[in-house]
Amino acid sequence: MSDLATLEADLSARIVAATDEASLDAIRVDALGKQGAISGLMKTLGTMSPEERQAMGPKLNGLKDRIGEAIVTKKAQLAEAALEAKLAAEKVDASLPPPAVRTGAIHPVSHVMEELARIFGEMGFALEEGPDIETDFHNFTALNFPPKHPARDMHDTFFLNATDEMGQRKVLRTHTSPVQVRTMLKQKPPIRMICMGRTYRKDSDATHTPMFHQIEGLVIDEVTTMADLKGTLMAFIKAYFEIDDVRVRFRPHHFPFTEPSAEMDVGCDRSGGSVRIGTGDDWLEILGCGMVHPNVLRACGLDPEVYQGYAFGMGVDRLATLKYGMPDLRDYFAADVRWLKHYGFSPYLLPGLAGGL
Ligand code: PHE
Repeated sequence: MSDLATLEADLSARIVAATDEASLDAIRVDALGKQGAISGLMKTLGTMSPEERQAMGPKLNGLKDRIGEAIVTKKAQLAEAALEAKLAAEKVDASLPPPAVRTGAIHPVSHVMEELARIFGEMGFALEEGPDIETDFHNFTALNFPPKHPARDMHDTFFLNATDEMGQRKVLRTHTSPVQVRTMLKQKPPIRMICMGRTYRKDSDATHTPMFHQIEGLVIDEVTTMADLKGTLMAFIKAYFEIDDVRVRFRPHHFPFTEPSAEMDVGCDRSGGSVRIGTGDDWLEILGCGMVHPNVLRACGLDPEVYQGYAFGMGVDRLATLKYGMPDLRDYFAADVRWLKHYGFSPYLLPGLAGGL
């Protein structure tokens, strides 16, 4: 093989083998650059005789053109392969499920309600429901609030313009007790129920919002005592706060619908600015309770000579604060997703007594 043929075969092989633009450019410099092999040969043309030049000139020019063209072609192939590789790497399979990013959270109030339903559920309480817009009878009269009694205003009631069949203005329920009335009216004892839901009073500061949540419980049977009430509430406090050793005390109080009535305090520690349940020697009022007033039983069609029972009620939002530590109640209902992201619960973590709350 002539020298030129060897040079061409060598360069062509290198061009074919080049895997990227940088190595291809190195071949171009080796062949066609100022100091390149072909450029060097071209320079020798000037030193040749006219006959030699006539023979050599076309051969060298042909070689230069073929190598130049092979390099351009290879360069285009490399660019195309690079694009193909990039497209393959960036390919998206639209049929795959979206990545598992947690975007939603359970509101602490919903989570706590779930906890409460589980705790009382395991103690045999059924869950009852009632409307937010109540009649005066269910919210007040049947619960032994005398007509025109200032207690109706003490509850900072929202009255509606709409009236009921007795001609009395409807109200946004000021407590969940009307659900107790509804349950006693529709069901014969024994009754063992809780109800939870929205309640409304004209009040707004860091610890009060015009809409808040209550949970109430009611037990009616032929023999039901204050001791049963205490036992149930202590079991509840232990389960909810997940502490075995909890101090409670009952202080005499007044509610129209219970007699005797009491408020229950739990032992807590307030040092350091926050309230910690279960330690310390301070007290925190946590709920209202008592034995159902005979007038309430009568209003609900039950004979107080046969039946007796106890009832209790407390604020769900406050229970949530005490356990999970959200400082300002107004934030609960501000619908701020940053707050919810911070304080919300994973939808996959359903509370249960067996697995822990
Ligand atoms: N309904 C009462 C309130 O909102 C709470 C309560 C319920 C008290 C049952 C005693 C018994 O103030």
